[in-house]
Amino acid sequence: MKLRWGLLAAGTIAAEFAKGVLESDLCELTAVAARSAERASAFAERFDIGKSYGTYEELLADDEVDAVYISTPHPMHAEWAIKAADAGKHVLCEKPLTLTYADTERVIEAAQRNDVFLMEAFMYRIHPQMRQLRELIESGALGEVRAVDVTFSYASTEAPERLTDRALGGGGILDVGCYCTSLARLVSEAATGLEAVEPIEVSGMARLAPNGVDEVAMGLLRLPGDILAQLSCGFRLAQDDHIRVYGDEAQLYIARPPWIHGMRPAGVSKMVLTRSNGQTEHIKAQTEKGLYAAEADYVAAHIADRQGPEVSWQESLANARTLDRWLAAVGG
Ligand SMILES: NC(=O)c1ccc[n+]([C@@H]2O[C@H](COP(=O)([O-])OP(=O)(O)OC[C@H]3O[C@@H](n4cnc5c(N)ncnc54)[C@H](OP(=O)(O)O)[C@@H]3O)[C@@H](O)[C@H]2O)c1
Repeated sequence: MKLRWGLLAAGTIAAEFAKGVLESDLCELTAVAARSAERASAFAERFDIGKSYGTYEELLADDEVDAVYISTPHPMHAEWAIKAADAGKHVLCEKPLTLTYADTERVIEAAQRNDVFLMEAFMYRIHPQMRQLRELIESGALGEVRAVDVTFSYASTEAPERLTDRALGGGGILDVGCYCTSLARLVSEAATGLEAVEPIEVSGMARLAPNGVDEVAMGLLRLPGDILAQLSCGFRLAQDDHIRVYGDEAQLYIARPPWIHGMRPAGVSKMVLTRSNGQTEHIKAQTEKGLYAAEADYVAAHIADRQGPEVSWQESLANARTLDRWLAAVGG
């Protein structure tokens, strides 16, 4: 039987995930809930979803929903992830899973208490290019890994309220900086063989809006393996998004990481390995399905494990504590 999804919130990314479920092999769309019955019904019609609800509570009471996809603004993630787990639903919750390490612990406790699946929706981690990156580092193709440089930002002149409003969890660090910390930690994990690593040192600076929201932020981490990471993110920053990993023998460059919009549909992803003698190798990864379809199928395939191995609970905890420290460093 297919995994029956209920969508909790009917916003921008919920629509992308709905398309993904329609493209998936192991899942189906069963219901959608929004804070207004009209919006839920319009969304249901758009994606041919059988049931729509005007409250999130009704979705959680639906016995035909096995798994819930939570895509409210960040501050409501913890509350609804806990309520969904307490209702016996499996949970895929958008990133960042919560606003703080302490809340991440509370959500994980709820999943454990109710014996349900829980995963933070870091879909990029399951992209085959990230497996290639990990394998290249593990194989020693870069020599000893020394540094990582990762950027994720967008130049938003009319940024949505959820990015500019503190009460809605605004700021670049929580919205896109969380990918930078996750990727830098992934590199350290591959280089050291450790799991769910956390930085030894964290420092940072940000350009803060008058209400304290970080519009542009930079971070410096010292990670296990004595790997230095520079992170750059923001929502009022027109820079390219890239990943660079530097070893003492070679460097790896990904010009278009899997998290950027253009790389989410099925297709070919590329990275370039450049050795210190100037020799280059172009490495490709091919996907047959879009990233959200793959994510939905990944959840279905790992329901019995209760966690996704690439985005485990320990991973979410380690990333949450890193974000707490970065935010503290910038005074956000
Ligand atoms: N994985 C990814 O690729 C990706 C991409 C973008 C965003 N995200 C994450 O997904 C989440 C939502 O982002 P989005 O871009 O989809 O935002 P959005 O378009 O603003 O949608 C958010 C939805 O949350 C619901 N909501 C519940 N309480 C709310 C409140 N107090 N104020 C405003 N909305 C409220 C609203 O849905 P209803 O009223 O319709 O219920 C709204 O449609 C964020 O946590 C973000 O980090 C992930």
